[in-house]
Amino acid sequence: MKFFIDTANIDQIKEAHDLGILDGVTTNPSLMAKEGIKGKEAVFNHYKTICQLVEGDISAEVIATTFNEIVEEGKSLAAIHKNIVVKVPMIKDGVKAIKWFTDNGIRTNCTLVFSAGQAILAAKAGAAYISPFIGRIDDGGWDGMLLIEQLSLIFQVQGYKSEILAASIRSPNHIIRCAEAGADVVTSPLDSILGLLKHPLTDIGLAKFLEDAKKSA
Ligand code: E4P
Repeated sequence: MKFFIDTANIDQIKEAHDLGILDGVTTNPSLMAKEGIKGKEAVFNHYKTICQLVEGDISAEVIATTFNEIVEEGKSLAAIHKNIVVKVPMIKDGVKAIKWFTDNGIRTNCTLVFSAGQAILAAKAGAAYISPFIGRIDDGGWDGMLLIEQLSLIFQVQGYKSEILAASIRSPNHIIRCAEAGADVVTSPLDSILGLLKHPLTDIGLAKFLEDAKKSA
């Protein structure tokens, strides 16, 4: 399972990259706004900076919601760097645009996916990545992980080439369960990635080893 970081924060991207386990980055308009990135030029420059930091796929989301505008915006985003993947929302014109991008050699990430039906449409249109939002499904009182399991099965049975990119991660346990359920990629905030490191018995064990090492020093 590949690890992407879900942020537009440069320090956090650097920290995950320094750990040596980072395969890519996903962003969205809310994450950009959180970093105070305003205006098309600033947004494009920010993507350039991220592409220089991380050698891997970087998802850049369109704001447009109509076919022609999605295509135009997506072409400009894709021209920033070879590793840019155009993130397109799961709407009717979005599916149509994903097919256009597929036919024209531009890779896409279909975002805001909440059902198997939506994922099947995105796969048929040729999306490179499909992003089910498991945390937001959990927030509504359902079980987001069931969707990852269902998609793993459907994609295997049908031989779809799209990668399942589990998004809207809220905890280290989400990451573990995504690995179990067969997600191809998980995109996560830094704290959930770092949460995977933690176990109290590791801390206790290390303290004891260090204490005993002093005895034989
Ligand atoms: C996916 O690419 C989105 O950026 C993201 O995972 C959304 O997560 P949220 O529900 O925490 O906003």
